[in-house]
Amino acid sequence: MMWSQLRTYGAAAVALAALAAATGPAGTSEDDRRAVWRAAYRPPSVIPFPETNPYSPAKADLGRRLFFDPILSGNNDRACVSCHRPDLAWSDGRARASTLVGGDMDLRTPTLLNVAWQDGPLGWDGKFHSLELVARAPITGIGNMNSKIPEAVQRLSADESYREAFAAAFGDPVVSAERLDAALATFQRLIVAGKAPFDRWISGDEAAIPDAAKRGFDLFNGRAGCSGCHSGWSFTDSSFHDIGTATGNDIGRGRLMPNSVALRYAFKTPTLREVGKRAPFMHDGSIPTLEAVIDLYDKGGIERPSRSRQIKPLNLTAEEKADLLAFLGTLTAEGDRDETSAVFPPQAPTP
Ligand code: HEC
Ligand code: HEC
Repeated sequence: MMWSQLRTYGAAAVALAALAAATGPAGTSEDDRRAVWRAAYRPPSVIPFPETNPYSPAKADLGRRLFFDPILSGNNDRACVSCHRPDLAWSDGRARASTLVGGDMDLRTPTLLNVAWQDGPLGWDGKFHSLELVARAPITGIGNMNSKIPEAVQRLSADESYREAFAAAFGDPVVSAERLDAALATFQRLIVAGKAPFDRWISGDEAAIPDAAKRGFDLFNGRAGCSGCHSGWSFTDSSFHDIGTATGNDIGRGRLMPNSVALRYAFKTPTLREVGKRAPFMHDGSIPTLEAVIDLYDKGGIERPSRSRQIKPLNLTAEEKADLLAFLGTLTAEGDRDETSAVFPPQAPTP
């Protein structure tokens, strides 16, 4: 766990201890429970960068340029931004990503929001070990950007302005695959969710969200058990679970971990930031609306050995479902954001 997250959880523990001291161990009231829950979602104040690839503005600028540049695709017709679009919460609005060869991929494009806080492997099934190791897959995918790493390196080396940008970022103009990975990852860590009504509420503005959403927040953390997996300020535990939806050969992390019962049909818990802008939902885009997502959790999914023990029929009333929906609606940022959303703390550390 990264230190910034520790600080977030640390704040929750401190709040809990203070409450226990104030109210005694015998019981905390509804409001006290809510206060403790709220503290667990406070945003950290800086973006975490790994020691092996520290932040610098020049590296982030280079990464931003690469992310938006079709030069990385074989036919100059596609860039990272073709699928991870800032105007669509860094996804693409499709059920499954489109291939260059016609037809769709098996997977929906995940948002890149708050990817800096993903602790552990990336991708719906965790096939990527780190953010630095993701980019080569789309660049070389035949149905995707359909290039080759030596070709991408050669094209960038032939461009004087890229040689200058690599020199600014790395000290000399050599273009290498590792530097390409490092720059793209540095830019992507700046893709941070903007400030939403929910953030104003947890920082003390009681009028920021309606009462229905507050009741939905209580359900989310209480009886409905959503926070068991959608935890912390990014609303994800960065882990993999079977929520009882996928079927057939679509076994997610089970393909990589064939000996684990629990990881059969398990997929990465997605962040819920900007969730209202990211339909359709799930790894395969199979659930069209948030109402349908809530109905699915209400029913509890397919009962089988791999299904998480946290998933069970909830028997929510119509009002409770509406409250949960109102809560999810508070996670969408307000107003215009710049392309990276880095206007809202957490900020990148000064290099
Ligand atoms: C054709 C659409 C498409 C393009 C172009 C594309 N991606 Fe993706 N991206 C996807 C899909 C689909 C996945 C899910 C892959 C998986 O889980 O196996 C993904 C996953 C990712 C992830 C993992 C996110 C997470 O939460 O686990 C990152 C990071 C990422 N892409 C970055 C990039 C970068 C950088 C580029 C450009 C070099 C790029 N993508 C180009 C569709 C695309
Ligand atoms: C056992 C862990 C777990 C629990 C508990 C859980 N979720 Fe999820 N959630 C996941 C996983 C894993 C996915 C992705 C599944 C997939 O892609 O097939 C997901 C997907 C979602 C999505 C779709 C997001 C997207 O970008 O596609 C929403 C919305 C959501 N959950 C809301 C909730 C709500 C509301 C609750 C409580 C009623 C809840 N979740 C409880 C693990 C969980």
